[in-house]
Amino acid sequence: MVTQRQGQKLEVTGSGGDMTGARGYSEYTAQLRQLTTDAAAGRTVQPRRLLASVDGEASEQLRRLVPLQYRRQVGAFFTPAPLKQRVTELLLRHRANSYLDPTCGSGDLLLAASNVLPIQNSLAATLRDWTDRLYGCDINREFVEAARHRLFIAALLRHGVARDEQVTSVETGRYFSNIVVGDGLNSLSKADSFTGHILLNPPFGVMSSSLSREWTSKPTSTAAIFAYQAVRHLAFGGRLTAILPDVLRSGSRYQSWRTLVDEICARESIITYGQFDDHADVDVFLLNARRVTPLAEHRPATEWWAPEALPLTGPRIGDYFTIRVGTVVDNRDPTEGPIYPFAKARDLPPSGEVSLPSGRRKFAGRVFEPPFVLLRRTSRPAKPGQSRVCGVLITGKNPVAVDNHLIAALPKDHSIESCRALLGVLASEPTSEWLDNRIRCRHLTVGAVREIPWRDLADFS
Ligand SMILES: C[S@@+](CC[C@H](N)C(=O)[O-])C[C@H]1O[C@@H](n2cnc3c(N)ncnc32)[C@H](O)[C@@H]1O
Repeated sequence: MVTQRQGQKLEVTGSGGDMTGARGYSEYTAQLRQLTTDAAAGRTVQPRRLLASVDGEASEQLRRLVPLQYRRQVGAFFTPAPLKQRVTELLLRHRANSYLDPTCGSGDLLLAASNVLPIQNSLAATLRDWTDRLYGCDINREFVEAARHRLFIAALLRHGVARDEQVTSVETGRYFSNIVVGDGLNSLSKADSFTGHILLNPPFGVMSSSLSREWTSKPTSTAAIFAYQAVRHLAFGGRLTAILPDVLRSGSRYQSWRTLVDEICARESIITYGQFDDHADVDVFLLNARRVTPLAEHRPATEWWAPEALPLTGPRIGDYFTIRVGTVVDNRDPTEGPIYPFAKARDLPPSGEVSLPSGRRKFAGRVFEPPFVLLRRTSRPAKPGQSRVCGVLITGKNPVAVDNHLIAALPKDHSIESCRALLGVLASEPTSEWLDNRIRCRHLTVGAVREIPWRDLADFS
């Protein structure tokens, strides 16, 4: 069962509606079929219509015709044009003989692959050639049919919409017969076998599956399962290009998954991309990897979240501060025990210094002795010129109860000067850049704060 959790693509606009699966999409598939039939029969079709059908139209129609509830359930969010362009650029670096998308939707990633395939001396020959090279799978028949028609149209456009007497019929069974209805995980089940290039933009939900037992016994990211099955399915030398939720790159709970992938793959690049598109509010990254033999010498030099630009050596905030999540769960913890000043995110100024927070609360658990710095746990990637995180220095004399939506940085030398230096480090541009690479998810982790490189204040002047 797929449920909606962190890391899933959540559409921010769009219609609700009844659960009718993807059946409504057949209205659009019928339009595509008409378009390809007309083109094959030599009837006039407007190039504008053809171009739209291989671009964003398939996603627009998805949002119009398929209920949001169902799109979320199966993770149907088709790759938008800018991401498709990035994938095409990556595919141009190493061309392959064949391409497989195990969750192909209406074929956007296969269209990216077709961009790097050559054309033959006739439309019919190109269609036959692409049919042999393009493999795909999706649980929704309507999407599979759309993918086949769109690839046909892409071939047509590459041939300048020239009519070919041999292409008299565009029955979906005739061309692109390796793009089929089925479960993508089944299509990836045979290890070490696919010699080509796997393209992946899988559903981003959460599922329970025995396929994830090597890294967790709990329900886990469907995307992690698909990506791991995909790299296992590759023969040695085969490649994967995957669009994945950022939590797989930066989340500590996916460390074991990353280690497993690193054991059988050489990462060729990791590109942090940002929000999937205007309709799906989740940050993604692009993984480009090559399958290697388990014995190959390819010990990864970097962490997934540390592309070459991020230094892995040198002092860290964690060398000078103990980093802790606040200990009060306000709506759960009983109001008993001594009364303390109580720090809650909404009562604090955005940055700067305060003697003691104005709130008060009884609390029987662990409290913190000032001076220390508080950071809000929720922080979006920085806009240009803004800081990703700001600290608030607490300078008073009494112990403070701290809400668990805040992270406390406690100076190991107990000095206010160290805290002030930390405010400078946090507010600096290099720290914002570093954090945006390290963790794009909205929740700062204790681990990420500990690892922020320390810089002397003199570095900022
Ligand atoms: C995020 S969309 C991506 C589609 C396409 N790869 C693209 O990039 O545009 C994920 C697709 O996976 C399909 N899907 C969900 N579960 C699947 C499964 N178990 N096997 C195959 N396809 C699946 C959905 O129908 C949806 O079309």
